[in-house]
Amino acid sequence: MARKERIEKQSWKPGNVLSPLPVVLVSCGGTEQWQPNIITIAWTGSVCSDPPMLSISVRPERYSYEIIETTREFVVNVPSVQQAKTTDWCGMVSGSKVDKFAESGLTPAPALKVQCPIILECPINIECRVWQALLLGTHTMFLAEVVAVQVTSALLDARGKFRLDKAGLLAYGLGQYFALGPVIGRFGFSVRKRKSKKRSA
Ligand SMILES: Cc1cc2nc3c(=O)[nH]c(=O)nc-3n(C[C@H](O)[C@H](O)[C@H](O)COP(=O)(O)O)c2cc1C
Repeated sequence: MARKERIEKQSWKPGNVLSPLPVVLVSCGGTEQWQPNIITIAWTGSVCSDPPMLSISVRPERYSYEIIETTREFVVNVPSVQQAKTTDWCGMVSGSKVDKFAESGLTPAPALKVQCPIILECPINIECRVWQALLLGTHTMFLAEVVAVQVTSALLDARGKFRLDKAGLLAYGLGQYFALGPVIGRFGFSVRKRKSKKRSA
């Protein structure tokens, strides 16, 4: 039997090292009071299947914070590697000084259920309504229900299946952006039995 390789560990101070994370462009505003804005968010995740819910954590000092807090709506737009630079840029400048839609060239398009626009170029757009805001510390976590989803039609194959592997999505971890690699398995593939080959006639 092959001997197990010795794996050494180093102790780090507690911190946000969970990696990789999705990094998303959250659009908000689009009301009479607030023009549409975009904020880059890495502290995000799915939190409930039914009702479908996700969370985003936002620092109260962000310009977008007040928009989301007052409108109680936002859209999580999942960018691709093509939008990597813009994703970083939207996290470097503030909507209090810059019109991020105009300057980035990203296209605002109508959402189905919320007032703020989706970002057309992003392959997945998740429209959300805030249920609860939890002040955790540096960040407030907005727990929100997913009320509508749009995906880019060009990423559907002939059978109508959404080809996530063709979307060229981005991942983020420890301050770095990564391009996702190929599909290496499907849900449950570890226990699934192989289909026996049909006998040829
Ligand atoms: C990769 C990346 C991830 C970020 N994640 C978050 C986050 O999860 N929460 C947050 O409050 N700010 C986050 N930021 C910072 C905001 O995106 C940044 O302060 C932005 O300029 C705020 O925009 P606004 O002032 O228009 O709201 C992130 C920035 C980058 C580049």
